[in-house]
Amino acid sequence: MKRSLPNSVPPFDIDSVRSRLPGRRIDWFQSLDSTMIEARRDLQPGRIVVAEQQTAGMGRHGRKWISEAGAGLYVSMVLAAKPIPVLMLSLGLATRAALTSVSRLIVDLRWPNDVLINGKKCAGVIAQLERDTIIAGIGINVSQTAFPDDLDTPATSLLLEGVTTSREDLLVALVECVDRYTQLSPDEILREFTNASSYVLGKRVRVESGLEGVTCGLDPAGFLRVREDNGTEAVILAGGVRPI
Ligand code: BTN
Repeated sequence: MKRSLPNSVPPFDIDSVRSRLPGRRIDWFQSLDSTMIEARRDLQPGRIVVAEQQTAGMGRHGRKWISEAGAGLYVSMVLAAKPIPVLMLSLGLATRAALTSVSRLIVDLRWPNDVLINGKKCAGVIAQLERDTIIAGIGINVSQTAFPDDLDTPATSLLLEGVTTSREDLLVALVECVDRYTQLSPDEILREFTNASSYVLGKRVRVESGLEGVTCGLDPAGFLRVREDNGTEAVILAGGVRPI
């Protein structure tokens, strides 16, 4: 059954998604505060929570995630617990793979969790440890035509990058890619992320703490190594990086 929205957004065909992901529990909501909050209510591993819009979409570091009705994909998945840094990298890889499967876009990854197209953020990933599970939250900008000017990082959507895609196809690809990438070994994830991201090696960056330097790889736990101009190597445990 297709569900209609009050505006001109095409109804989301959740039944088509369910038929392509047999056996998966996919809970779809017209509107939620946040799929992260809903996922916490029942931590059944493998469960997928999708909302057409979020009224309190959460980004990392307490930021908001703008979640306009029908313009994006707002998804949380309940996963078996794993060390968060490497898991975050695998979720970024999965999101990148889902985006490249529905478009010919070149998709970059900015450690730890930003998914970039032409240097602008098109998707973001958050992960929360909840008892013995992880709730992975992924937001993808699909058909927004504008973003507020005061975002901390410039944003884009698939539509703004010239791609029209069905959110149903994108959701199916995303779930399949999350399943695939979260099964990889930590070494494989570190290697794939290093290959996929322009930020891991040789990029001059400023860290949120103010530290500046050139990136020189990931450590075995998935943290970013940065060589400062005085030769000291720092391991970045938290916060984002920006190119300079
Ligand atoms: C980031 O700050 O880059 C992470 C953004 C994560 C947004 C997604 S949208 C689906 C899920 N529900 C939320 O409230 N947040 C995540």
